[in-house]
Parts: sequence; C-alpha cells; structure tokens
Amino acid sequence: MIIVIDGPAGSGKSSTARAVADKLDIEYLDSGALYRTATLLYLEADRNEELFFKLLQDKTITFHYSNGCFHVAIEGESVTSRIRTIEVAEYVSEVAARPHVRQFVNDLMRDVVDRGTYIAEGRDLGTAVFPDADLKFYMSADIEERARRRYEERKTDNPELTLEQVKQNIEERDHKDSNRETDPLKKAVDAIEVDTTNLSFEQQVDKICLEIRE
Ligand code: CDP
Repeated sequence: MIIVIDGPAGSGKSSTARAVADKLDIEYLDSGALYRTATLLYLEADRNEELFFKLLQDKTITFHYSNGCFHVAIEGESVTSRIRTIEVAEYVSEVAARPHVRQFVNDLMRDVVDRGTYIAEGRDLGTAVFPDADLKFYMSADIEERARRRYEERKTDNPELTLEQVKQNIEERDHKDSNRETDPLKKAVDAIEVDTTNLSFEQQVDKICLEIRE
C-alpha cells in the first residue's frame, strides 16, 4: 500500500507524513531528501556533468526512516545533515530538473515500496511516480506561512540564516519545480487538497489519518 503527499516547500508535508507514519506504524519515504543527496554528488563533482553522472552510477545511496528522522548515506557514510544546507537548497531544483536524475530517484523509491506500506512525500509522486497510489494528498499553504515555518525549523542549526533568505529560496524553488518540463510540481486530479495555512500541526495529522482510516 502506498499513500502520497505532494506540495510545495514548507507546506508541512514532511513533518505531517512522519507523524502519520509513526501513528499508523508504517514506513516513511522522503523523495526530496534523495534529490538533495543527488545534489551533494553534483556539488562533489564540482558541477561537472560527466563526473556527476558517473558518481550517480557508481555510488551506493542507502536510506531508512527511524526515530522520527529520514536517514540517508552515501557509501555507508551519513549525509543526513549535510543535505539540509542552504547551498544544497540553492542547487537542488536545478539538479532535480534533469530527466536522468528523476529516473534515478524514482528507481530508488519504486524499489523499496514493493516491500511494505509507505507514506511518501514529494512533488510528482501522485502524478508521475505512483499514479496508482492508494490515497493521494496535495498540501498547500500561503508563502509567508511556509517561509516562517521553514525558518523556525532551520534557524537553530543555521544561525546565519534570515527569514528573507528562506522565503526567496522557497519562491525560486517553487517556480523552478512548477515550470520544469519533466514531471513538474502539480496536484494530481484525484488528490485530496489540504490547505494548512490555518491548521495546527495536530489538525493536519488528524485530517490525514482520518482519510486513511476511512
Ligand atoms: O523539504 P522541502 O519542501 O524544502 O523540499 P524537499 O522535499 O527536500 O525537496 C527539495 C527539492 O527536491 C525540491 O525543491 C524539488 O526541486 C526536488 N524534488 C522534486 O523535484 N521532486 C520530488 N518528488 C521531491 C523533491
């Protein structure tokens, strides 16, 4: 069984999906973390396309969800915190627009979901990756609220970060993610829309759990 949540940055997908996974005792899959990991390899390749392609083919990427955190490793070495830097956030949408990178991440995900019940979140899961998902959600919230939430989440680990920087990054990514040619960010026609602007975290989680239980 697979449940998907798509939506723009900071709409509450990750935290909500993790809470639902814990409540219902199912697996959680963060597709954005995999795009961020591919972006680390791109930066490691000094943005050289050929070398990046080779690293994607050669390096083994592993991931699992435990203790409320989606862990990712390259060749067994954890990159869980390194994928959350502003540098990665600045390049990720550009890297994720490449069809071969999308194919790579999609293969990683499709490989694991056959082996359990998952709640997965991203941008194109309901439209392109898992069009036959058992249940689809599309989360949204207004830009000010999304920027504020993301800033609150990241400011302790990144003391230099400003709210304006976060807002700008989110707007740029939304624009690139919605306008790329391959599998852009889009609400699937059969997705349930959840606008979280005025919902508390508990309300978001309850709403989704209720739909799943039905
Ligand atoms: O957590 P946040 O919403 O900031 O973003 P994320 O889920 O970590 O995703 C980072 C980036 O990966 C997005 O801005 C997209 O460019 C890309 N992405 C994508 O293209 N397709 C997905 N299914 C998930 C993420």
